Amino acid sequence: MVQTSQTRNRIRSQQWFERAQQSLVEGVNSPSRGATVYTPGPIMLERGRGSHVWDADDNEYVDFMMSFGALIQGHAHPTLVKTVSEAMAEGSHFAAATSAEVEAAERFRRMVPSAEVVRFTNTGSEATMLALRLSRAHTGRTKFLKFEGHYHGWYDPFLLNAHSHPRGQLGSVENPARIPDSEGIPPSTFDDVVLAPWNDVTALEHVLRQHGHELAAVITEPIMANMGCILPRDGYLQRLRELTQDCGALLIMDEVVTGFRYAPGGCQEHYGVQPDISTFGKALGAGFPVGAVAGPRSILDRMRWSENMVLHYGTFNGHRLTMKVVAANLDLLTAEHTYRNLHAVGNAVIAGLREVFRRRQIKAIVQGFGPMFQIYFTEREAIHDYRDYCQYVDTKLYSRFVHRLLDRGIYMTPSNGLHWIISTAHTNADVEALLEATDQACTGLS
Ligand SMILES: Cc1ncc(COP(=O)(O)O)c(C=O)c1O
Repeated sequence: MVQTSQTRNRIRSQQWFERAQQSLVEGVNSPSRGATVYTPGPIMLERGRGSHVWDADDNEYVDFMMSFGALIQGHAHPTLVKTVSEAMAEGSHFAAATSAEVEAAERFRRMVPSAEVVRFTNTGSEATMLALRLSRAHTGRTKFLKFEGHYHGWYDPFLLNAHSHPRGQLGSVENPARIPDSEGIPPSTFDDVVLAPWNDVTALEHVLRQHGHELAAVITEPIMANMGCILPRDGYLQRLRELTQDCGALLIMDEVVTGFRYAPGGCQEHYGVQPDISTFGKALGAGFPVGAVAGPRSILDRMRWSENMVLHYGTFNGHRLTMKVVAANLDLLTAEHTYRNLHAVGNAVIAGLREVFRRRQIKAIVQGFGPMFQIYFTEREAIHDYRDYCQYVDTKLYSRFVHRLLDRGIYMTPSNGLHWIISTAHTNADVEALLEATDQACTGLS
C-alpha cells in the first residue's frame, strides 16, 4: 500500500542528482526530467512493477506518467519480461531480415486499418521525419503545414511554436508569430513551414486557400497532447481531411501519443478519419524504443531501393528484441475488453477528480477521456487550443499541485504540457489513492 506521508525522505535522490550533474548536462538526458520541472530536483526512480514505481530512497508511488505514455502495459509486465529474456538469450539484434519483424508488422496491420504497409523506426521523432520526407517525395512539393502547439519530435522543421509562450507574443490568428523552439536551426529551414492555429476551421480554410497548392503535407496530432490534452472540436479532423484532399496535400496523422491508446487503430479509428500517412511510437513498444510509419503502398513503396528512392536507413530499424516486444504487446492489447477497461478506469479517474475539485471549490477542469487526460487550473470551461493554453492555464499552480501529489505517493510530471496516462496495470485501488491524495493536496492550494 502506498504511504501518503507528506515528508518523504529523498536524500538518496538528491545525492544521485548531485553526482549526475558532474557527468550529464543538467544531470539528465532531457530537460523535461530535471530541475527545470522538478523542485528542488528530480526523483531518481529505481524500479517499477505494474502501476507502481520506487525511488532511490525506496519511496513507493502510483505512476500516472508511465514513461510519457510508452508503458501501456505498466512496468515489468510478466509476459513482456519473459519475451525480452527469451529474445535476449537468442540474440537481441542481427540487423538482418527476421521473422520477428514480420510478426510485429502483421499484428500492426491487423490493428491499424490505414496501414497497408509499415516501416519501423526507433523513435517517434524518426517516424515523423520519415513521414515528411515521404510526403515531399510523393507530392513533389516542399512546404508543409504544422499547427501551433503541436510537437512532432525534435527534427529541425517541426520546432516552430511547439513550446508555450505568453499570449502577447503569439501574433494574430491570421498571422501567427513564428517562434523557433531551438537554437542551431538555420532560419531558412522555416521558410518551408506554414504555421496555423489548430481547431479553427475558418483559420484552416483561410490558410489553405493561400498555401494549399504548395503543401506536401499537413501534419497534425489528432488530440493535442503536448499542451496537456486538447480534443478536436466536432468535425474538425473530418474537415481537415476534406480540405487536404481538395488541395492535394497529404494528411499526416501523428499518433505517436494516441496510437494503440484510444482504440486498436488509434484516434483515426476513434474519430473515423483516414490519414494518408500515420506515425506511431510510445505505446507501440510498451517501454522499448520504437516508432513506425504506416500508410498505403503507393506512398511507402517510395522507400524501395532505386535511384529515386526515399532514403531511410538505420542499424537498429526492426530491432529484433523490440519487434518481439511489439508483437507480444499488440497481442496483449487485442485481448478482449482491453480498451473497454482502459476507458473505464480512465473515465472513473476523470469523474473522481472533477468531483474532488468541485467539492473543494478549486477552479480546475479535467480534460480528455479514457486513457489520457490533463488537469488545467483555469477559470475557463474548456481549453480549445494553444492560445487558450498560453493565456488561461495556470501552469505554475499545476506544478505546485503535482509536487504535493509527489509527496503523497503519486508519480506524475509537474509539467502541465504533458498528460495523465492510464495503463492496463492501473486498478481501482490506484484510482482511490489518486483521489485521496488529490483531496489532501487541495488543502491550502494556491
Ligand atoms: C505527438 C508526438 N510526436 C512525436 C514525438 C516524438 O517521439 P519520440 O520522443 O519517441 O522521438 C512525440 C514525443 O513526445 C510526440 O508527443
